[in-house]
Amino acid sequence: MGGGLSRHELAAAVSEGGGLGTIAVNGAAAIRRELVAARALTRRPLAVNVLLPFARRDWFVAAGEADAVITFWGKPQRRTPGVWLHQCGSVAEARSAHAAGADGLILQGVEAGGHVRGVTPAAELLDQVQRELPADYPLLLAGGIAEQGDVRRALEAGACAAVAGTRFLLSEESRAHPEYRLRLLEAEDTVLTELFGAGWPAPHRVVANAATARWLDGDPRGPLLNRLLNRLLVPGVRYMPGALQGRMIRAQRPSSRLLSPAGPTDDGPQTLIDAGALYAGETVARITDIRPAADLVRALAP
Ligand SMILES: Cc1cc2nc3c(=O)[nH]c(=O)nc-3n(C[C@H](O)[C@H](O)[C@H](O)COP(=O)(O)O)c2cc1C
Repeated sequence: MGGGLSRHELAAAVSEGGGLGTIAVNGAAAIRRELVAARALTRRPLAVNVLLPFARRDWFVAAGEADAVITFWGKPQRRTPGVWLHQCGSVAEARSAHAAGADGLILQGVEAGGHVRGVTPAAELLDQVQRELPADYPLLLAGGIAEQGDVRRALEAGACAAVAGTRFLLSEESRAHPEYRLRLLEAEDTVLTELFGAGWPAPHRVVANAATARWLDGDPRGPLLNRLLNRLLVPGVRYMPGALQGRMIRAQRPSSRLLSPAGPTDDGPQTLIDAGALYAGETVARITDIRPAADLVRALAP
């Protein structure tokens, strides 16, 4: 879970619990720092997630120190020599990542929280991809995983592992802002929108807040003008200085036409609770508690 929602505390706790914890931060220095901090907490394997629309060459060098690198949202291409997984949302993308030499794929269903590549339910996508790729090729399933029964169904359907985001957003070790977590605990519904797309105009699943109330009147994707402006920022976003990005995020209000994809972290501005993306998957309706991540991994394992 990017933008610093999943840092060393969460990744290490998940790995200690028997899962594969994933660090998701922006920039080579941050990736290196979080990985060193996580290694101090666990000797078990750790993954680093790299968002392809933002990644620079040195991010891959830093991420390559992890036991696995997971890429998302872009042309699948091997960038690191070790274990590489690519998260896919369609059969075509799965075929292309397999052909590019990915060691395995995460198949993301449309139920997922955060940025949603998938357009079909996870179980359906798994079935479709299984027909296309070799029987022993590792397929991991993401989207809709929050309880042991979800994991069991994914494994019985032939996935080699289940991937969960939203459930771990509501863990003690996630870096989600406390008020963001409270909003999720109360949420019964999500919306798939493109509203928080400044520089990254891609569908994302969120819980409603003041910004969605202000802008999502009719079309859940958001007003056409907002979406056009979001696209205009794309060429610059990879190279925009961090300080400028930080200033824009701090200035963001529910009435802003340009809304960044930054999620509310516990060390970020409080204003993002109502002006930012409250990412969550459909499982948010079933999650009613915040628990230690290692306990969650143990409870999820069949
Ligand atoms: C808050 C949040 C942030 C996310 N950020 C990323 C990200 O940076 N990179 C990525 O590959 N996937 C990201 N995802 C998507 C997850 O990898 C995964 O597909 C999703 O969490 C699965 O659905 P679930 O949330 O229902 O468990 C994010 C998901 C959430 C909920």
